[in-house]
Amino acid sequence: SAGEAADELGYGAYVVGGFVRDLFLVRSNEDIDIVIEGNGIEFAKKYAKIHNARVHTYEKFGTAVVIFPKGFKIDVVTARLEYYRFPADLPIVEMSSIKLDLYRRDFTINTLAIQLNPNRFGTLIDFFSAQKDIKEKAIRILHNLSFVEDPTRVFRAIRFEQRFGFTIGRLTSGLIKNSVKMGFFQKLSGRRAFNELRQILEEENPTPAVERMHDYDLLKIIHPDIKPTRKLIADFTAVKKVLAWHDLLFLDEEYLRWTVYFMMLIRQFNKQKSNEICQKFEMAPKYQVIFCKERFIADQCLYWLSFNKSLKNSELYRELSGFKVELLLYMMAAARRESIKKIISHYFTRLRQITTSIKGKDLMAMGIKPGPVYREIMDAVLDAKLNGQIKTCE
Ligand code: CTP
Repeated sequence: SAGEAADELGYGAYVVGGFVRDLFLVRSNEDIDIVIEGNGIEFAKKYAKIHNARVHTYEKFGTAVVIFPKGFKIDVVTARLEYYRFPADLPIVEMSSIKLDLYRRDFTINTLAIQLNPNRFGTLIDFFSAQKDIKEKAIRILHNLSFVEDPTRVFRAIRFEQRFGFTIGRLTSGLIKNSVKMGFFQKLSGRRAFNELRQILEEENPTPAVERMHDYDLLKIIHPDIKPTRKLIADFTAVKKVLAWHDLLFLDEEYLRWTVYFMMLIRQFNKQKSNEICQKFEMAPKYQVIFCKERFIADQCLYWLSFNKSLKNSELYRELSGFKVELLLYMMAAARRESIKKIISHYFTRLRQITTSIKGKDLMAMGIKPGPVYREIMDAVLDAKLNGQIKTCE
C-alpha cells in the first residue's frame, strides 16, 4: 500500500538500505527505510492517514517517521537532487534521484533498493554491484572521498565487517589507513566519535571489532594507552560470558550492554584519566557517574569481597544492593576468582529482588510510635527474611 500511496502522488517509492541488505544475508531487521522520489513528507502524511498512524516530520531534512499504532516504525526520506552537495573533484554524472540517493551512502552493501510502486513492485535495484559484494563478503565504499565526507564511516566499516564476517576491501582498507594517518578523526566531535564506539560495543561480540580498531590504530582516539592485550581480550571474553548468562536468566531486564564493555576498556585508568576520557567524548552525566564514580566503588567492593567470603545473605545484600545491574555485571566479569563470581551471582539471582512487605502503616496499626525505630524494624525484618529466618507466603 506504500507503493499505491506513492503512485497517487506520482512519486517513486523504494525500500532501501539495511533492510534489503539483511534480506540477502537472511538476518532479521525491523528498521524499514523508504526513499521517495518526490516529497517524502507529503507521502508520509498520506501514508500515515491511510493506516491511522502518527507521523513526525523534519521539514528541514525532508524526512519523516511514520509510527503505527502497535509501535512499528518506518523512516521516510526524500531523494532530492538539489540536496546533494558533492565534493568538488567528484564527477557529477546524470543520475536519477534514487540512484543519487544510493550513491551518497556509505558502502555498496547498503545500496540495494526494492521498488514499491505497483507496476514495478518488488523490482530489485542494484546500481553499485551490492549483490556481488555481498557474495564476495566485501565491505567497499562507493567512491574515494567517502571517508573524507564522513569519517564515522570508518567505524561503520569495522562494525559491519565483524557483524557479518566480511572483509574490508583492499582499496577501502587503504583509504581507512589514509584517513587515520591524515587525522580526519580530529575533525569529528567527541560526541559523534563516541556514538560510533558505543555502537561497536553494542554488537553481539565486540572483541574482534576492537582488535580491528587496533589494526587501524583507532583505539588511540579513546586513549593512546589502550591496546588489545591478552588481559583486555580475556576481560572482554569474560564480559561476553557474563552478559550471555544474564540475558538468558533475565530476558526482559533492560540494561546498557556497551557500558560493561566500556568499563573494561578503561579499567587501567584512574579517576582523573577516566574523567578526561568522559570529557573528551562529551558523555552524558549519567554515564560519567558510572565510569568515573561507581566503577571505582565496584572495584573497591570486589577487593573487599576477596577478604570477606563467608558473608550472611543480609551482609551481602547491604554491600551489593546499591549497584546498578551494569556494575554488578562488570564486577562478575572482573572478579578473578570463581568463588567471588559465585557470591555476586548468588546475590543477583536470589537476593536482589527480596524486599519487606511491611509498611509504616502496619507498624502504626501495631501501636508502635513513628520514628527512627521504623527503619530499624524494617531492616531487621529484611535481614531475617534474607537469612532465611522467616518465611512468607508472598
Ligand atoms: N549511512 C551512511 N553514512 C553514515 C551513516 C549511514 O551512508 N555515516 C547510510 C547507510 O547506507 C545506511 C543508512 O544510511 O544504509 C541508514 O543508516 P543506519 O540506520 O545507521 O544503517 P543500518 O545499515 O541500518 O545499520 P544498523 O544495521 O546498524 O542499524
